[in-house]
Amino acid sequence: MPFNYGCASFFTNGKQVMKDIRIGILGFGTVGAGVVEGIQRNGALMAERTGINPVVARVADLDIETDRGITVPDGVLTTDAMSVIADEGIDLIVELVGGTGVARTFTLEALRQGKPVITANKALLADHGEEIYQAARENNTGIYYEAAVGGGIPILRSQRAGLIGNRIESIYGILNGTCNYILTRMEREGLPFDEILADAQALGYAETPPDLDIDGDDTAHKAVVLASMAYGAPVPMDACTTKGIRGLSESEIANADEMGYRIKLLAIIKDNAGKVELSVEPALVPKTHMIASVDDAFNAVFVKGDIVDDTMYYGRGAGRLPTGSAVIGDIMEAAADKLHEVGTPVSVTMMLQKDGLEYCSADNIEKRCYIRLSLLDKPGSMGKVMEILGRHNISIASVVQKERHEEGCAPVVVLTHKAKEAEFVAAIDEINGLDVSGADPVRMRLEDFE
Ligand code: HSE
Repeated sequence: MPFNYGCASFFTNGKQVMKDIRIGILGFGTVGAGVVEGIQRNGALMAERTGINPVVARVADLDIETDRGITVPDGVLTTDAMSVIADEGIDLIVELVGGTGVARTFTLEALRQGKPVITANKALLADHGEEIYQAARENNTGIYYEAAVGGGIPILRSQRAGLIGNRIESIYGILNGTCNYILTRMEREGLPFDEILADAQALGYAETPPDLDIDGDDTAHKAVVLASMAYGAPVPMDACTTKGIRGLSESEIANADEMGYRIKLLAIIKDNAGKVELSVEPALVPKTHMIASVDDAFNAVFVKGDIVDDTMYYGRGAGRLPTGSAVIGDIMEAAADKLHEVGTPVSVTMMLQKDGLEYCSADNIEKRCYIRLSLLDKPGSMGKVMEILGRHNISIASVVQKERHEEGCAPVVVLTHKAKEAEFVAAIDEINGLDVSGADPVRMRLEDFE
């Protein structure tokens, strides 16, 4: 039976019995070093609290020469990851190699050997989650992946423990620190996208190259893991409509600001009448909503359950120690599960409740939008646009025309009420074809959380 709501202490006749758990870490990069540092710093505290003493027994990496700023005892480092997995003295494996190649091989091999695997690898779960959860279940062991979503924020543990009695109505996430950092500084300082991206890279927030961050795929990887857990089956990446913030202009940030909104790269996950709605997209959010106040490289996840109502979780979404903290939490939970002979933990059963899920077609999703048009500044231009929007059942919430700043054309910013995505696409296509239309319209979702 799955039982893993926390790390249980081991007591005999009222005395705590200490049990060692021997850990094999694959990948000694940023997060691997953070895990080792965290255990060195607080391992004794963890042992006091739980009766489980975490011992970093082996660490594998192709590069065992580079100084990571921490020392490990002689004989711990190796370049041979498979020997760590096969080592009978290792109780559990921590996969921090990254990517979907050897990381998949190592993970499946460890699970086949009945060893629990802890991973921070969101791309691996997004692309191969089903195979991995099934392998864990078939081999009567667990896969634990708190660090894959939201860095140090214990959001998955919250979903599968504190919120276990809830049906999840919606989740909104700011899940990429790089994008949030860029958007925050664009708004605060009015600087262009490219300049701030270079800073984000220098600060080590962004992946190299940063495409996975700024094109939204990193957020989408995390969103499908959240959605899979919320709705009970592995969600494929192609179920997520993904758009990033590449090329977002300062005009959009300034227009949103003037109208009382901020732009955030949001993961949007909803139960939409029994179908899963899933997207990653830049969206205007009201400045008065808590999620709008999440700045810099921080992450936040806003979860609405049918019993608990609104909850929000906030913290560092990346980095050596915050992500290390999430991995360590999983190590202790996996250790307790192993010592209690739990078999298949909740982190696996929740992903495999159903054979599959139904998804909303992107065309049918109803949403509010921000539309920036460029219209010839002459009589009738606005009328033509309004006629098209009306004919597509798109109702206007507000419209602002600015003084023109380019030859012949004036920017017009429209905020709409809810309408179907397919209608927006068709209307914008028609507007583009008008003889009064200048530069291509820009359209973004407006999410008012109603
Ligand atoms: N590059 C990622 C971010 C790191 O900026 O959030 C964690 O996935």
